[in-house]
Amino acid sequence: MSIAFIDLAAQQRRIKPQIDAAIARVLAHGQYVMGPEVRQFEEQLAAFAGARHAVSCANGTEALVLPLMAWGVGPGDAVFCPSFTFAATGEVIPWLGACPVFVDIRPDTYNLDPDKLEAAILAIKAGGRLTPRAIIAVDLFGQPADYPAIAAIAKRHGLKLISDNAQGFGCTLNGRHPGSWADATTTSFFPAKPLGCYGDGGAVLTDDDWLAERIDSLRVHGKATAGDIQGHAFDHDPKYLNMRVGLNSRLDTLQAAILIEKLQVFAGELELRDQVADRYAEGLSGAAARAPIVIAGGRSTWAQYTIEHDNRDGLAAHLKTLGVPTAAYYPMPMHRQDCYAGYPRPGDLPVSEAKADIVLSLPMHPYLEPDVQERIIDGVRSFNG
Ligand SMILES: Cc1ncc(COP(=O)(O)O)c(C=O)c1O
Repeated sequence: MSIAFIDLAAQQRRIKPQIDAAIARVLAHGQYVMGPEVRQFEEQLAAFAGARHAVSCANGTEALVLPLMAWGVGPGDAVFCPSFTFAATGEVIPWLGACPVFVDIRPDTYNLDPDKLEAAILAIKAGGRLTPRAIIAVDLFGQPADYPAIAAIAKRHGLKLISDNAQGFGCTLNGRHPGSWADATTTSFFPAKPLGCYGDGGAVLTDDDWLAERIDSLRVHGKATAGDIQGHAFDHDPKYLNMRVGLNSRLDTLQAAILIEKLQVFAGELELRDQVADRYAEGLSGAAARAPIVIAGGRSTWAQYTIEHDNRDGLAAHLKTLGVPTAAYYPMPMHRQDCYAGYPRPGDLPVSEAKADIVLSLPMHPYLEPDVQERIIDGVRSFNG
């Protein structure tokens, strides 16, 4: 029997009647764009993460650009981010004419290395060409970045901090969500994400009232918000006022309705993911492949269960013959891609480059059966290449 890398069908079987009913409700009321489920989902999402606001949007990529736009990041500005990440993290920075500055990661957690981050900020400041404005920390594979250290650096240098929580929505550090430290937390509801919908979707979470209102405007073509309208008289419907240059980045009502149902089972699914990760850790202990390490006090969502092996491609080929699918996230750090190679990376990125050659992600989802997992673990252990 073939093994699923991520088994979305198993989850769907569990909540199919609720999903069907949620979709039917939207079809009945017909408010496909910004219908009532969007606000309802935003409230529930904010409550889950202990944030004052959640503003949904079209995907996790635009969730990243929205706070940067709100803060007016643009030409001449530097935004610091890891290179060992999904391309969306760094991609949004040049959209605004700003400059990504790639920073290396910690060898144990794959997340931003605070010491290298501070060195990069100092190097950019010393260069005198760019103005440091923001940091994007990524919760790679689902585990929280070192927020206490990163937030202290952001504060010292007067920079905004975004948590790119696309893979890690629900992760915590010492029981706190990334939003305890970050000015904005962004996430993705891409179907394969731990909290995924049935299409594209994203959200920005923040405790900052001004930022939430500004992003609410930007996601709908820079529409006038309550704050824009208050105290002003208009000689036409302010609905058609564009207060600033924005974009169209809304979460579909259908996706919000689906997410409301998925959020109901999400906390339980995170526990199931923990159990699967524990079984992997136990089964792989003492194996040639290195099991993942989570930062002290951290809880991962296990978006990926990523092991390391010096002969990564050999191990992947061996597992393929056993019907075990795997993926290499990420085989090429951003700064090695031609279109990003010209951006600064003070101090270079030896850890990112080394990891790209040895990481291998194994099947991971909340419904991975122990006997199937046993086959995967046996497969990894039986490789002696
Ligand atoms: C770390 C990271 N950031 C951003 C994104 C972008 O999310 P989306 O695909 O919803 O645009 C993703 C997901 O693919 C991601 O893994």
